[in-house]
Amino acid sequence: MTVERSFADKIVTIERHFFEQQSKFPEATGVLSNLLYDVAVSAKIIASHTTRAGLAEILGTEGKENMHGDEVQKLDTFAERTIYRMNDHTGRLAAMASEEEEGIIPIPDNYPTGKYVLIYDPLDGSSNIDFNVSVGTIFAIHRRKSKEGPGTLEDCLQKGSDLVAAGYIIYGSSTMMVYSTGQGVHGFTLDPRVGEFLLSHPNIRIPAKPKYYSVNQGYQHRWSEGMQRYTNWLQGDNDQGISLSLRYIGSLVADFHRNLLAGGIFYYPAEGKGSKKASGKLRLLYEAAPLAFLAEQAGGYASDGHNPILDIEPTGLHQRVPLFIGNRDLVKKAEEFLRDEQ
Ligand code: AHG
Ligand code: MN
Ligand code: MN
Repeated sequence: MTVERSFADKIVTIERHFFEQQSKFPEATGVLSNLLYDVAVSAKIIASHTTRAGLAEILGTEGKENMHGDEVQKLDTFAERTIYRMNDHTGRLAAMASEEEEGIIPIPDNYPTGKYVLIYDPLDGSSNIDFNVSVGTIFAIHRRKSKEGPGTLEDCLQKGSDLVAAGYIIYGSSTMMVYSTGQGVHGFTLDPRVGEFLLSHPNIRIPAKPKYYSVNQGYQHRWSEGMQRYTNWLQGDNDQGISLSLRYIGSLVADFHRNLLAGGIFYYPAEGKGSKKASGKLRLLYEAAPLAFLAEQAGGYASDGHNPILDIEPTGLHQRVPLFIGNRDLVKKAEEFLRDEQ
């Protein structure tokens, strides 16, 4: 009896993948691979709680708001502390920055500092937690610019095109970690029985034919004329045979992940001048830029409606940007509708 040996389904753990990617860079010291490994372990710990949130007494809110005015969910805090406790002492980081902290997060004086900074959204889509809808974690890694000692705000305020690595974890029907170090986008699915992330989606490329558009149409009345017409265009008001289905669940990671695999566009446009969301809702450093890095690595594109997300020089840790991300031609079409209305 011969064993069916279809080596297409070889078993590759995420750790092995990190080190194989590293071997392409002879000067690499392994610090980045180990940092990515620490992120993966943080994800497993967070995943073990998201899948039990209803039982593990960490549903619901902390009864306080963060600086963005969002209610802090218990799982936001758990995820934030898990990533911090995994990374504050390893000597790989000069500083961290998080959606849940106003300023940069310094490395405690009694620990060594390292050559990277880790910027993250510990739990994305947290308004969905209590309703068992997929949520995620988003991370961005830059090389520090300062020479030594405690990391600085400038180390964190770097544009997306200078990212060393970026990725997300989606806690959904399965837990997946998707990342890139600039060598393509690779997806790993957690096998909870053995606690390993195994390669399931090598070299992800956004499909040429899009299926979905993702936007909160509940705000349609606040958009510009160009945005209304763009949305009609996506729904079929065009001569290119494009007629997309709407899928929007209010978790950026889940909406992005679906469009990355199925083809489509996610957008969170700017709202009227003077509105709290005049620059949209999503944050550049730990939402738009890391996902833009992945989108471009997968053959897609991301823009603020006028310029590439990856080219935006950050001026603040929590600055918001309008976001259009997914198939390149759909994002370019959005830019066209916005340009025509100027
Ligand atoms: P977070 O939970 O990290 O604050 O992010 C929530 C974001 C993003 O995940 C999602 O795309 C967006 O909020 C949904 O906003 P609306 O509810 O305004 O559509
Ligand atoms: Mn978020
Ligand atoms: Mn968040």
